Amino acid sequence: MIITIANQKGGVGKTTTVVNLATALASINKKVLIIDMDPQYNSSISFNAYNPKLSIYRVLSNDIKIKDTIQHSQIPYLDVVSACEDLAAAEYELADDEDRNFLLKNFISDIKNNYEYIFIDTPPTLGLLTVSSLTASDEVLIPVQCEFFALEGLSKLIKTIELVKSNLNINLKLNGIILTMYDKRNSLSSLIEREAREFFDAKVYKFNVPRNVTLSEAPSHGLPAIIYDLKCSGSQAYIALAKEFLERGNLNGSK
Ligand SMILES: Nc1ncnc2c1ncn2[C@@H]1O[C@H](COP(=O)(O)OP(=O)(O)OP(=O)(O)O)[C@@H](O)[C@H]1O
Ligand SMILES: [Mg+2]
Repeated sequence: MIITIANQKGGVGKTTTVVNLATALASINKKVLIIDMDPQYNSSISFNAYNPKLSIYRVLSNDIKIKDTIQHSQIPYLDVVSACEDLAAAEYELADDEDRNFLLKNFISDIKNNYEYIFIDTPPTLGLLTVSSLTASDEVLIPVQCEFFALEGLSKLIKTIELVKSNLNINLKLNGIILTMYDKRNSLSSLIEREAREFFDAKVYKFNVPRNVTLSEAPSHGLPAIIYDLKCSGSQAYIALAKEFLERGNLNGSK
């Protein structure tokens, strides 16, 4: 199953969610691949896997086969395809290519049967990199930061998902919404939570990710928080979310 993590709002926890959800699933022996589609390459850095020579940009440019860009992370069962700065240029370099939205999907088809889950981390934009990730995916997972204006951008994102669904990928489903950086001492967090649950109902994951400083420190050690400090509240939240992710998959009849 291929899952894109998307939200065009920056800094809402997309990368932190990809990195820790993928690690939690790999730790129970699910074979997982992360494809970093963000020119900021934060997911790649989080696994010490940043490598421009093996970047997904070179796959999209037809320089190298995707199977030759796959790097094993330090975590068994978890592989990574790196991003690099040049990926930002793909937006205009591929602008005249009629198949541009389907390139990623076609390349992934060569390797998709080797993994139970492929997570695609996306940049904070709704351009080609995000649209082609959605086109390649079975499902989309949306992290929402519990802060003012959190829900404002969501209707634009949902509209983009609907457009991709009707024009490029009829099978795309909303996996769910994960509330991130939840601060139980802050009444705004509970207000955002209430509004999100009222509006999106069961699509919102039961577990929220708390604001937790260890989640933000771990990437500088080249490790997912779950490996860096399993006991911290952030790691524990992502482990609970991974369980919920699997339960939702079972309910939907997918893997
Ligand atoms: N639950 C959390 N508690 C505390 N800090 C967090 C939490 N989740 C993420 N962060 C930190 O907040 C910042 C933004 O998170 P992250 O990089 O995951 O967001 P993003 O949506 O991927 O950002 P971008 O849009 O730039 O790719 C990072 O410094 C990250 O370490
Ligand atoms: Mg990111």
